[in-house]
Parts: sequence; C-alpha cells; structure tokens
Amino acid sequence: NGEIHSWDGPRQEVFSPVWLADDTGQAPFFIGEYPLLTETEAFQALDAAVDAYDHGRGMWPTLSVAERIDHMERFIFRMIEVKDRVVRFLMWEVGKSLQDSEKEFDRTIKYINDTLEALKDLDRISSSFTIEEDIIGQIRRAPMGVVLCMGPFNYPLNETFTTLIPALVMGNTVILKPPKHGALLYAPLLAAFCDVFPKGVINIIYGEGKKMIPPLMATGKINVLGLIGTSKTANALKKQHPNPNRLRCVLGLEAKNPAIVLKGADLDLAVRECVLGCLSFNGQRCTALKILFVEASIADAFLERFAKAINALPFGMPWQEGVFVTPVAEKGKTDYLQELVSDAIIKGAKVVNADGATTLGSFFFPAVLYPVHHQMRVYHEEQFGPVIPVLSFDSISEPVEYMINSSYGQQVSIFGSDPDQIARLIDPLVNQVCRVNINSQCQRGPDTFPFTGRKDSAEGTLSVSDALRVFSIRTLVAAKKTGLNKQ
Ligand code: G3H
Repeated sequence: NGEIHSWDGPRQEVFSPVWLADDTGQAPFFIGEYPLLTETEAFQALDAAVDAYDHGRGMWPTLSVAERIDHMERFIFRMIEVKDRVVRFLMWEVGKSLQDSEKEFDRTIKYINDTLEALKDLDRISSSFTIEEDIIGQIRRAPMGVVLCMGPFNYPLNETFTTLIPALVMGNTVILKPPKHGALLYAPLLAAFCDVFPKGVINIIYGEGKKMIPPLMATGKINVLGLIGTSKTANALKKQHPNPNRLRCVLGLEAKNPAIVLKGADLDLAVRECVLGCLSFNGQRCTALKILFVEASIADAFLERFAKAINALPFGMPWQEGVFVTPVAEKGKTDYLQELVSDAIIKGAKVVNADGATTLGSFFFPAVLYPVHHQMRVYHEEQFGPVIPVLSFDSISEPVEYMINSSYGQQVSIFGSDPDQIARLIDPLVNQVCRVNINSQCQRGPDTFPFTGRKDSAEGTLSVSDALRVFSIRTLVAAKKTGLNKQ
C-alpha cells in the first residue's frame, strides 16, 4: 500500500518444482519465501485501497488519463530495470523455460504499451460529443472502485497483469494476490510499485488465498473480481459477497478445447500445430488443445506422425537452450496425470508414443492416449498437463456433440483444406465457443483479439481494448442545449 512492510510473522518457504525430483535423489531446491499475511493485514490492505479510491474522489481516480499514462510509462521503465530477476524467478518458480519466461515478460511490457495506446483512443472517443434532438451527450468511462486481481501459476506475471493494468489505468485501486506458484517474482517489482503509484493504489497481499480472500469479499467493499483461475474459486468467492449484484466479475477459467482434424488436412501443419497446442508449457495453459478428434480414415497416418513429433521434443531443465518439455509446476501433478493415463489404459486406450515410464521426478513425459471414449476420465477432465486424448470419428456430428455437452466453451481448432467443408463446420461451432481457429492451434494472442469463453470458461472479455471497458463503467453526461449559455 505504498510502503514495503517488514515482516516478522510466519513465512511460506518456496521450493522450485524444477528440483522436486525426489526419486532421482535430488533435493528440493529452496528459492525463497514470502510472508503469510493474516486476515488483519489483508483487511488493512483493503482499507488502504478503499481510502485511496475514496468513493471516486481520491487522487488516483481523479487524475487525467494523460497523468495515469505518465505513471504507467514510469512503471514500465522501472519494470524493465528488474527484468532479469523477474524472469529468473518465473523460471524457477513454475519451471517455465528461460526463453518462454523471457517471452512472458516481453509480452507483458508490450501488453502495457498496447493498453496505453488503446486508452488514448478510448479517451479521444470519451472526449467527443453527440447531439440528439436538443441534448448534447458525452460518454465517459469511469472507474468501478476497488478491484481484486488474482492470476494463475501458468502466467503469474502476464495474466495477472491483464487484469491489473486495465484496472489501474481506468482509475480503480487494486488488491493484488499473487499466485502461490509465482509469488516471488513480485518481489523485484515492489519498489517500482511503491515509487510510481500513490499510496493505497496498489496493495499486494501475500499469503493463503483460501484464508485471506473470502473475508475480504464478505466485506462487500470489493467492486470487481478479476480472476484467472478455476470456476471453483470464482464461485466460492462470488458466494461470499453480501450483494452479488454489486460485484462485477471478469473471469478467465477452465477449458477443454478440442482440435478437429479433417480428411484432406495438411498433416504436417496439423501435427505441428497440435504439438504446440497440446504441449506448449507442458499443456499447462487454459487455451491448450486438450482433446483431439481425427477423422477415422486419416487417424493412423496422423497418429504416426504426431507420436514421432512428440518423441523428438527436446526435454530438460528450463535453463537449457531449446528445451521444450520441462518439469510440471504443481506438486502432486504427476500423480494426477498418471491416474488419468492408468484409467484410460484400464478402459482400453494405449499410450501410442511410448511404452515405458511417463514420469521422472517432476517431469511428465507427454503421453498420447488412443482410442479414447466417454467412459474415460481424460475425455471429460481438464488435464492441464501433457496427456493427450485422441479419438477418431466418422461423422462430424461427434465432435460437435462433444462440444455441446461440454461444461466449457472457450475455443476450437479445425484442420482441413476444403473451404466448403470448413465453412459448414464454423456455423455450429461459433455457437459453442468464442474463438474458432482454422489450421491453427488455440491460443489467447494476439492480445488485441478478444479473449473470453462460454459456459464455465469465462465471464467478461479480456483483450487490450475490451479490458478497458470491463474494468470501467460507461457514464453519460447529458446536457439540455437550451439551458446552456451559447458562449
Ligand atoms: O492459461 C491460459 C492462457 O490465457 C493461455 O494463454 O494461449 O497465450 O498461452 P496463451
């Protein structure tokens, strides 16, 4: 809240998942610790945010857009100064390869810069007038109040910032709860937050979300919940709010995005995109392809190439150059993934790309399961890891039915070469998801594109410009022409 508080209370020790390779004899590697705040300190942070907002009369919400942009530009400058430390924490905390950790950092800087450009455009629109009958109208975007920002472990910096940055630039004050995996990387940024932003505008609370956040929600003082995480967390937090009608939710949640590979598809392209879609950051992305439907007549050819491509992926430690498969980030995850594989094998699937062990310490070697059917857990569950269920289909209605019956509705990929066939498929699919990708993997970017989903996958739309709207409210100033002095 404008100051870095010293802390002599309990702390959470953090061990890197990169070294949780117990059964290879490697000791867990201690990388740091963060404070475990109590409810009382979390309340103090909330009070600081509420005071700084001061019902919209505080310094930050009343600054001009140009002044807020000036603050953000100074923040970018300070952030770049600590890039190396942030990137290294990111790599150690979640096992993301060094090159992908750097990409996440650079993408975040670009996201902030793009947001500032979009903000200038929005401000131009807001400063214009429209005249209808005898009324002059001006639409302004006004802040909402206090925003709680919570991001996920897979993009602890970038995705958290896709709620933090738009919330801040629109004049809100913020409570930020860093993810459990990805909390340490905020340490190098603390001084920049404190030096650049007025007191109480951004309040970072470290600790156990389950303990701290529900009481904060129960105060009714949080106006917007910006959460990239699970629907379980989102629903639990919404329930705490005493007046849900006064809580706006901007949520990025689970997904089970399918790829549909049609006869006639360029198989090299389909394989390349499916490998990236299924396995970038070990499949630990909400946008990952999590189930593949392949037309029966090309299933064998596709699987042969797909398995070969996966087996050739370089695996290793995140700092090794060119590495693709790295350790999974969450403790206990390899056991869960192994359960999914065993369940599918018992029910008739095979791991088609390997016949040996799939785990080694915190590594989980990608496992392609075929043929998968609806009685297997991996058919329904969001694996969020490197297990790839594959089914063959005769009729296109099969993957469409799958999507209709799914609890999720984020994205889909179609691979094919016949424009008419693809066009026929797009119509039923746009009614199930919020992005249809043709001959390309599912993904969030470019960040100027809208990012959202149906059903349990999302609420509200994030993107450079949409986010400015979801973290603000449209207010009309309407003046009767006749009463105004003509000068
Ligand atoms: O985990 C969900 C992220 O929004 C995925 O983003 O598609 O850029 O990897 P990405």
